[in-house]
Amino acid sequence: MSNTGTVTLTDDATGKSWKFPVLGGSIGPNVIDVRKLYGDTGYFTYDPGFTSTGSCESKITYIDGDKGVLLHRGYNIAELAEKSDFMELSYLLLNGELPNAQQKAKFTRDITMHTMLHEQIATFYRGFRRDAHPMAVCCGVVGALSAFYHDSLDINDPHQRMVASYRLIAKMPTIGAMAYKYSVGQPFMYPDNKLSYAGNFLRMMFGVPAEEYVMNPVVEKAMDRIFMLHADHEQNASTSTVRLAGSSGANPFACIAAGIASLWGPSHGGANEAVLKMLQEIGGKDKIGPFLARVKDKADHTRLMGFGHRVYKNYDPRATVMRKSCHEVLATLGIGSDPLLELAMEMEEFALKDDYFISKKLYPNVDFYSGIIFRALGIPVSMFTVIFAIARTVGWISQWTEMIEDPQSKIGRPRQLYSGQTERPYTPLHARK
Ligand code: CMC
Repeated sequence: MSNTGTVTLTDDATGKSWKFPVLGGSIGPNVIDVRKLYGDTGYFTYDPGFTSTGSCESKITYIDGDKGVLLHRGYNIAELAEKSDFMELSYLLLNGELPNAQQKAKFTRDITMHTMLHEQIATFYRGFRRDAHPMAVCCGVVGALSAFYHDSLDINDPHQRMVASYRLIAKMPTIGAMAYKYSVGQPFMYPDNKLSYAGNFLRMMFGVPAEEYVMNPVVEKAMDRIFMLHADHEQNASTSTVRLAGSSGANPFACIAAGIASLWGPSHGGANEAVLKMLQEIGGKDKIGPFLARVKDKADHTRLMGFGHRVYKNYDPRATVMRKSCHEVLATLGIGSDPLLELAMEMEEFALKDDYFISKKLYPNVDFYSGIIFRALGIPVSMFTVIFAIARTVGWISQWTEMIEDPQSKIGRPRQLYSGQTERPYTPLHARK
């Protein structure tokens, strides 16, 4: 971070002026440092939804929303998705550099050593209803990890932080797959540490103890790429939730559970499930026109799910990779064409030509195509957001670690513009109308 100048704030009512430093990062817009604003001026900033607020300094992920660029530690996501794998990307997000062969082998082995869950957790699952949404189960189980792993709760001990991080990354596929198994009434599958991260997840999802699971390398590769495309996305709602929860000193398992809760919403990670349901409801190409008319009608409150993004005002680069992957997966699996993929592409074409979407710079985001791949891979709809959560765990953990290690970080405590009642006398019960 460097000082690049100042801006002057003038209060028109009093004529008083104050100067505030302008800080520059390595790339992207400069920021006005308003940390002393209240102390100096008595004012707060007002920014609901944090549309103009930088909440932290970070070296992990960079997004240029106008150009549709996403970099992890300086590497372009499209190149990473093509040439790397999820374990390498995880190492990169956590450590800042791509691993060499030895580092990669050690990291993969270390993660693999943590894939099993404390056996008592299986009992914990049995307390849930079978028809519970797997995101509800994951949220509960991840929060409960802090009740099982007491030896990695001290956030001031770097070793314990690392163990907690590895545990979370390693155990998330096990937790997600168990949530699915529980919902369909099949026995839990223990992890098989000979398999890759993605392969292990697939076997725990679709394998059964009675039969040997036969891995399809196309499906395994596609799942690994899906994990990569969802791994981190700078200060989005769930990541900011993890940072905010962690800023009070809460343990990492509790913080990641908070992130999962935030991710579940349909405006965020829950959009992949919502997109598929939307496409199924629309049903056919002839219904696109009437559906888009509803989307454009302010009174209707319908949104084109999988479109639009707070930061991207251009094609989401993850959607570009996902769209290409969709075609490859369908072709390689011999599915040919999926009517929902055709409908999605037709919808995209309609929307990208439509003034409403052009003027608001609304483009497809990652969730627009991910559901279609998930469907081709045989993933049930209720598991879509769980897969997002499994992948995003490494991003959350990297951001949480960066925050804990940052000497400047403080407890997150936004202020407000109060517009409620001012102080008034208490009315006794008998006198109230
Ligand atoms: N369909 C129709 N109109 C939209 C959409 C959409 N998907 N997204 C935004 N708009 C309109 C919105 O009505 C508003 O119009 P106006 O200015 O006339 O009031 C304008 O575009 C700006 O929208 P906003 O809600 O103020 O923008 P935001 O930055 O607060 O919201 C968003 C971003 C992602 C929540 C929103 O675009 C949305 O709801 N999209 C659908 C849900 C979705 O696909 N979410 C996945 C996000 S990417 C994956 C992830 O990171 O989680």
